[in-house]
Amino acid sequence: MQIHPSIPDLRLALQGRGRIVFVPTMGNLHAGHIALMNEARARGDTVVASIFVNRLQFGPNDDFERYPRTFQDDCDKLAAAAVDVLFAPSESELYPEPQQYYVDPPGIQHQLDGEFRPGHFRGVATVVLKLFNIVQPQAAVFGKKDYQQLMVLRNMTRQMALPIDVIGGETVRADDGLALSSRNAYLSAAERAEAPRLQRILRRIATEISAGAADFARLERDAAAELDRHGWKTDYVAVRQQADLQVPDGAGGQPLVVLAASRLGSARLIDNVEITTGSGR
Ligand code: PAF
Repeated sequence: MQIHPSIPDLRLALQGRGRIVFVPTMGNLHAGHIALMNEARARGDTVVASIFVNRLQFGPNDDFERYPRTFQDDCDKLAAAAVDVLFAPSESELYPEPQQYYVDPPGIQHQLDGEFRPGHFRGVATVVLKLFNIVQPQAAVFGKKDYQQLMVLRNMTRQMALPIDVIGGETVRADDGLALSSRNAYLSAAERAEAPRLQRILRRIATEISAGAADFARLERDAAAELDRHGWKTDYVAVRQQADLQVPDGAGGQPLVVLAASRLGSARLIDNVEITTGSGR
């Protein structure tokens, strides 16, 4: 695997590589990331990964400083996954001057995760557009665990007419159902044992909606209360339309997804479950 910290070197290395599939990451890679690399491998000729912990998408109370940085270990995992090229820029390479031009996503950036992480999706969209311009891939893979991020980036790519297929990779889970995440490292042993509750509750809501439950507000409220009774501090549990993450319009028929973010100890965990059947009201 080639490793390039410099933009010009990367550009040279990517010439004549056929269909490039790109997987941007912030490092601290786990099996969920490797599944994205495998998806990328199946979709093109050259797999390019990036590792960059993007300060722009962290708020002042977020975990930028303590975000786990495990570069050597990450390189070993990417090489083992047959990734062809790793772009690993320093902050001064990607932001040689203060970034003054941003991608400002529409209203959804202030809802769900955006309500609790102001500026987050603006920071994500900005760095991803910049990475897209540097790597110039034909396709890019993002995990469905960050469902709102995937939607924001898919819509940005379409509206900006970028010639890039945005592909959603399935969430990888531990045996007990917990979605793999770098932030799981913040959980104590007792919290780790409690953590799968989030996914169990989301699955239960999905099953109830598939079976015809229509009072989404009650399902959301009850789920948040149940989590909080078990020591969580819940930001939101929300049933939304898959395509745009808007509140279901009541007409029925649209595919739905139930999403949640909740804090357990010092970890803020997010997860979601797509609802594949049912009326959506
Ligand atoms: O999902 C992530 O790891 C990050 O938000 C991304 C897409 C690499 C942008 O920094």
